[in-house]
Amino acid sequence: MRLHTINIEEKTALEDACAVLTHGGLVVLPTETVYGLAADATNGEAVAKIFEAKGRPSFNPLICHVSSLEMARQYVVFDDTALSLANAFWPGPLTLVLPIKPDSKIHSLTRAGLDTLAVRMPGGFARDLIEHFGRPVAAPSANRSGGISATRANHVQSDLGDRVDLVLDGGPASIGLESTIVKTRNGDIELLRPGGLSVDDIERATGMTVRRQQNASAAIEAPGMMTSHYAPRTPLVINATTATPDDCVITFAGKRITGSDESLLILDLSERGDLGEAAANLFDHMKTADASGAERICVVPIPIKGLGEAINDRLTRAAAPKTEIGDADRHD
Ligand code: TXA
Ligand code: MG
Repeated sequence: MRLHTINIEEKTALEDACAVLTHGGLVVLPTETVYGLAADATNGEAVAKIFEAKGRPSFNPLICHVSSLEMARQYVVFDDTALSLANAFWPGPLTLVLPIKPDSKIHSLTRAGLDTLAVRMPGGFARDLIEHFGRPVAAPSANRSGGISATRANHVQSDLGDRVDLVLDGGPASIGLESTIVKTRNGDIELLRPGGLSVDDIERATGMTVRRQQNASAAIEAPGMMTSHYAPRTPLVINATTATPDDCVITFAGKRITGSDESLLILDLSERGDLGEAAANLFDHMKTADASGAERICVVPIPIKGLGEAINDRLTRAAAPKTEIGDADRHD
């Protein structure tokens, strides 16, 4: 698709952006916090393009943007505290991490295989677009991995260039700081990331104390990559060259390894050898493999190029003891 930038005041902006999202493309979307790099949150291959465009070497769970509380409730479960926070601060710079509903249509890559989902209702044009589109959009900040979050359309233009289908220019972001992320659990509010909404405002509105993590960086790392992250219980072997009849083999591009034809189950991440499709299938295949009753999950070597880097990163984490690997790159 042709790269272009249009002002959100343009009559066709809403329709153009919806068309790109419907076709699995990427739209740079102004929000009150920072610009977001948006894709259909239910479409795994579209979400894979977000990671590819950002050049991020690992998969972090993304924030799902909704246009209403009703839309959010189709996908996640609100407790009373979460409900009062949403009522007080949505639309606005607050993201809630909530348990996912079992039948949720949000793609597993959007939530990096977690059983929780980060949801936020932005205001203004972003909200209108999501309402018009009719389902949530996944959107991290619109910057290359390791870069600074973009608060103006021309920042995005120079940073992401032709990696996106459409840039919507809504002028400078009014808040200019990412949303505050909290997790509610058993009537408790835990701060995962400080942001555009102050803790004081949250405490004043709820009459509750917000619990801060002892170690601020752990608060950001932990959600995506550490203990709470989905990891198979079945031992996982990466770069496998042989398999036994008790193993489940996860392959790529139809590749066979010694013994794989006799293995319990063989799952292909992408028969056509497409790394975007492989990324979209990764978490679901790991879950299926884990539930298969296999003794081990043997994963064939996956090319380390483009999205292959993030796929290999995730597989390495799944293969290693859970506490050994942290997430050094906290610029999402
Ligand atoms: O203001 C914002 O929040 C912007 C705009 C575009 O909405 N978005 C943004 O997204 O900053 P991103 O992807 O750059 O940051 C999302 C953060 C990450 O640190 C990620 O680990 C965390 O949210 N996150 C996402 N899902 C989570 C989950 N299920 N549990 C815990 N943390 C989660
Ligand atoms: Mg970010």
